[in-house]
Amino acid sequence: MSRFQVVSGKGGTGKTTVAAALALALATEGRRTLLVEVEGRQGIAQLFDSDALPYEERKIAVSSGGGEVYALAIDAERALLDYLQMFYKLGSAGRALKKLGAIDFATTIAPGVRDVLLTGKACEAVRRKDKQGRFVYDHVIMDAPPTGRITRFLNVNDEVAGLARIGPIHNQAQAVMRVLKSPQTAVHLVTLLEEMPVQETADGIAELRAAELPVGRVIVNMVRPHLLDEEALRAASGGRRGEIAKSLTRAGVTGSAALVRPLIEQAAEHAERVGLEREQRDVLAGLGLPTAELPLIGDGVDLVALHELATELSKQGAGGEVDA
Ligand SMILES: Nc1ncnc2c1ncn2[C@@H]1O[C@H](COP(=O)(O)OP(=O)(O)O)[C@@H](O)[C@H]1O
Ligand SMILES: [Mg+2]
Repeated sequence: MSRFQVVSGKGGTGKTTVAAALALALATEGRRTLLVEVEGRQGIAQLFDSDALPYEERKIAVSSGGGEVYALAIDAERALLDYLQMFYKLGSAGRALKKLGAIDFATTIAPGVRDVLLTGKACEAVRRKDKQGRFVYDHVIMDAPPTGRITRFLNVNDEVAGLARIGPIHNQAQAVMRVLKSPQTAVHLVTLLEEMPVQETADGIAELRAAELPVGRVIVNMVRPHLLDEEALRAASGGRRGEIAKSLTRAGVTGSAALVRPLIEQAAEHAERVGLEREQRDVLAGLGLPTAELPLIGDGVDLVALHELATELSKQGAGGEVDA
């Protein structure tokens, strides 16, 4: 089962929400889970009604199943200090570099360097063991950059390993890539049943596969219920207005055409949406990946709704029982 689960997807499709729900699902199954954020938006803190996350792992949820969710907002500057400390024991030199502005350069000017630090820190948490040699976290879930950037983001250490051919930086980069390209890792893509995000999902999967990064699931988010059965859908989309008007009358909806017409138009719109969603479902089915579906929560996602989404993921085996 994937110990490192990376959640990407088109912006606004629900990456942060799904990553958090996945972490909760695993905790409910009794696992100790670390939820990491790399984009500096404090989206996780918001979701869990907690204060802004400091650069340290902090428990944000405990489940009845005995599992726990820790959270960490990885900050590139602090990760760079860790990195220098780890490889060169440059604690004080690191601070001197900071004074010189080298760190601003590294973390804001060179995005590649930033990504090396972020992926490196996440993989460190994946590999970390306690004194007894057990993994500190059963799972690490990353609220990752969007689909358009995810392959480059995860693959950045490949470039580094190629640039620094020997030495500690080379070894570190290779160790990170070993984690990312192994079955320990699964990259999930969140999408909506709409043409643009589905297309981005298909493109993203092709890119990930070309880079030999392990693709996990497609998670279809904000799925709206179908209100009409097949027969009704055909009637609504076929413009069989007379017929619908008659059944409305039979159902007791009597009234002017001014009342009936908007109802019929709404039904036709609904039928059209269902048709478009089916096309997108077919495209997704063609990708040959396991999927999970999460409903649209009408009133927005609060903590209660987040737990509902987590339960939904567990039911669909997206928590962990099924190998990705
Ligand atoms: N299943 C859902 N039902 C209703 N609203 C959702 C759902 N999933 C996410 N949202 C809402 O959609 C918005 C974007 O979600 P978010 O997780 O922040 O997306 P991303 O991280 O991809 O930008 C947020 O307001 C969030 O509460
Ligand atoms: Mg987000």
